[in-house]
Amino acid sequence: MNVDLYERLWMWAAGVIIAAFIAVIGVSAIAYGMHPPSHVETIDPAKVFTDPRFSQLGQPVLQPDGVIEVQIVGLMFAFAPAEVRVPAGRPIRFRMTSADVTHGFMIAGTNANTMLVPGYISQFTTVFRRAGDYLIVCHEFCGNGHHVMAGKIIVEESK
Ligand code: CUA
Repeated sequence: MNVDLYERLWMWAAGVIIAAFIAVIGVSAIAYGMHPPSHVETIDPAKVFTDPRFSQLGQPVLQPDGVIEVQIVGLMFAFAPAEVRVPAGRPIRFRMTSADVTHGFMIAGTNANTMLVPGYISQFTTVFRRAGDYLIVCHEFCGNGHHVMAGKIIVEESK
């Protein structure tokens, strides 16, 4: 079969691009350990407030790996707690879940953005480079009070 030279070049170019995309996914998944924020770690949404994994809501807790962990629960129509204080320039691991329906968790002005799905624990780690007040908004429609569901992260200069 005769395939035109330019057709052939485009076919090879398309093959190279697809291979490059697959390589990027492979490297980020294996070498950088990237994964969906839920980890498929489950929790009973009816027992969130008595679960030991959420016994220190909103208190920044230094973990053995040097990361500061913050636990937050989303519920209609607030974040518990509504205000969290964390230091700037340090890795902060947010561990969160929902006590009722699916909520969103977006830190305005940053790329930190996840969903709080009942039954699952969402987790991500981020670093706030600059001190200041950051608004948390729920960006998944969760009911009549969705538009008032917000919180605040106060990032303080690290000592
Ligand atoms: Cu919670 Cu919208």
